[in-house]
Amino acid sequence: MRTASSSKNPWQASEGDFPSLGTASEKLEFLLQYAVLAPSSHNSQPWLFRIVGDHVDLYADRTRALPVADPADREMLISCGAALGNLRLAMNAFGYMAERILMPQPDDPDLLARVRLGSAYRPTDEQRHHFRAILTRRTNRLPFDTAKQVQRDLMAAAVEDAEVERAHLTVTQDPEIKSAVAALVSEADEVQLQDPRFRRELAAWIHPSRSRSRDGVPGTAFGMNQILDQVGTPAASFVIRTFDVGGGWAARDRQIAAGSPTLALLWTGEDTPRHWVEAGQALSRILLRAADAGVSASFLNQPIEMAPLRSKLAQAMGIAGQPQLLLRLGYGPPLPPTPRRPVEDVLD
Ligand SMILES: Cc1cc2nc3c(=O)[nH]c(=O)nc-3n(C[C@H](O)[C@H](O)[C@H](O)COP(=O)(O)O)c2cc1C
Repeated sequence: MRTASSSKNPWQASEGDFPSLGTASEKLEFLLQYAVLAPSSHNSQPWLFRIVGDHVDLYADRTRALPVADPADREMLISCGAALGNLRLAMNAFGYMAERILMPQPDDPDLLARVRLGSAYRPTDEQRHHFRAILTRRTNRLPFDTAKQVQRDLMAAAVEDAEVERAHLTVTQDPEIKSAVAALVSEADEVQLQDPRFRRELAAWIHPSRSRSRDGVPGTAFGMNQILDQVGTPAASFVIRTFDVGGGWAARDRQIAAGSPTLALLWTGEDTPRHWVEAGQALSRILLRAADAGVSASFLNQPIEMAPLRSKLAQAMGIAGQPQLLLRLGYGPPLPPTPRRPVEDVLD
């Protein structure tokens, strides 16, 4: 039987509705509202959950793959890892240990994790704050305040967050490195946006803000209200699919990357599905820490999505490992949330 929380818009999740006297499965169903608020590439929300007694299994929903931008499902598994990170934090915030096994059945590559609602746990104040930031975190693609730098101790704590999940974060505020990275972002943009298959895939996930769709990215999130919102979906998709938007977009991204107060590369030692899920859990921690401190973030992953540029990015950032996500951080204007599917839509 489905509970009231499973059919609700997850952004309206309210701590006071936690079924403290309910069964373990009712509690898990409630807590999943916080998992589905995680970020995901193109807001594809590529996750499925199965609750069995006191544990929940997290599956990758491969039907939501992005075969052009993400042919190996790497970003898909990072997205699922971020949902897992949010879920573990929510369990802790409501006073439970989150007992997690990654990839519990090696013969089932879609089963990414099993998490049990464990024994009593006392959350730290920091965890409570980061948990509350699940509702306020947004991907913010708008220009950031160039006069305001992100504090170094916040970034040092974010580096620790990555290590806790066996990932790594390398941060730079150096103008020369930022400019070299910005050039790679714009080079990747040019190549990707010249590819009609890439444009078609992107167009399929961009919706006007008034759309009733509960996935995909609203045009406003790109700061493209005029192009995308006034003309509506079919015309907007037409623009992206058919015109050479590469030049303008690439220049804008270059400016945005170079002008961002801080760039941070999330990376792993190896490039396996397990490492991707771990990177996703690190991402959840980093973004919630940032959101709690009022710091906005968005992604500039384009060079990571293209093999030759991925190694150039590693070189530019001085890392000996596998780049997974490139983040920009700073202070941006407030934004409305992007849509989410209710928990009942992602429950097996
Ligand atoms: C693995 C991953 C990759 C992403 N890649 C990009 C990207 O390359 N460009 C971008 O603008 N947003 C990117 N995003 C952000 C998503 O588009 C965003 O999370 C989604 O639209 C939901 O919006 P929200 O984060 O504001 O809730 C990525 C998110 C994840 C988790």
